[in-house]
Amino acid sequence: SQAASSLQQACEPFPYSEDEYAYVDWDNLGFGLMPTDYMYVMKCSENDRYKEGKISRYGNIELSPSAGVLNYGQGLFEGLKAYRKESGGLLLFRPDQNAMRMKFGAERMCMPAPSVDQFIDAVKQITVANKRWVPPPGKGSLYIRPLLMGSGPILGLAPAPEYMFLIYASPVRNYFKEGSAPLNLYVDDEYDRASRGGAGGVKTITNYAPVLKAIMSAKGRGFSDVLYLDSMNKKYLEEVSSCNIFLVKDKVISTPATNGTILSGVTRKSIIEIARDLGYQVLKISHLSCSSDHRAFPKAEMRMWQQVEERAIPVEELMYADEVFCTGTAVVVAPVGSITYKDKKVEFRTDAEALSRKLYNTLVGIQMGVIEDKFGWTVEI
Ligand code: COI
Repeated sequence: SQAASSLQQACEPFPYSEDEYAYVDWDNLGFGLMPTDYMYVMKCSENDRYKEGKISRYGNIELSPSAGVLNYGQGLFEGLKAYRKESGGLLLFRPDQNAMRMKFGAERMCMPAPSVDQFIDAVKQITVANKRWVPPPGKGSLYIRPLLMGSGPILGLAPAPEYMFLIYASPVRNYFKEGSAPLNLYVDDEYDRASRGGAGGVKTITNYAPVLKAIMSAKGRGFSDVLYLDSMNKKYLEEVSSCNIFLVKDKVISTPATNGTILSGVTRKSIIEIARDLGYQVLKISHLSCSSDHRAFPKAEMRMWQQVEERAIPVEELMYADEVFCTGTAVVVAPVGSITYKDKKVEFRTDAEALSRKLYNTLVGIQMGVIEDKFGWTVEI
């Protein structure tokens, strides 16, 4: 294929392994870093465009001590996965969504971004180059991690003079140590993840280190992860450290509306679209219109039989939810067994008939190429 021959050229002078599989214990993959053969690097100076990228051996990179990313956190990341089909082909899931989100985030962080085509082409190249690290069907996926960073030196607070777009990859399976068992979340109303006017809605690296303290504290007490509330009212659900959140009550699925503080997850978006396809009517209520009316709950007559709602969700609604689940590229669709808020623990259903199970099966079936992709989401390479 064209990708393979450009790969042979790009990988020179390194030998490109023709082995089907790398030597990996495929039955025991978690979400730890397993370095693969190659990474992709493309650079650009301020006010310029990205030119030819290059595949090179995976390894350390050299950065100036005064690089913008090291000093002022001028950086973004993305995450997407490649699955191996039974027939041997590789499937990427909605790489265009990651490319567009990186462009959107780059604008917020004053960085030049690769074009959507450059992004997708680079993702294809790095996936094919590391093909032997893509797990066998049913054993996990290759997690692809694009980074965009201010790599040039800068001392005063300003955009860096040079940028680096880099992609590496690692085979993964379950994100949480719980495996596919239900998560136990903790609502932390001390620490905030994001605030209005900040950068919570884009995938900047600076959204992640500040929540480590909340995560470590929750994990130390036996929880899987932390669920954050909005910083202004400490009242509405936002998201979990590494994923978005959904509630199910009767036939209504709800998720916090993205309002600039919540990351617009590709899995979140896909689950809403799958629900719509299953007959759920999509209802979007902007956060602002909800917060002026503290009855954020839609009026009864607005509630259809089956509905998927994007709206402000008061934390008290957790008390009445039948089901809760998390979505994200890394976590996929993870059922939540319990949530603890102000020393009160609420439990949710997670049995085989739970809606999250059906949504998970549909999403993963499409991602792995075993369910027809009528949405046109997968890209075969
Ligand atoms: C992903 O789901 O891809 C993410 O970027 C979350 C990360 C914290 C693992």
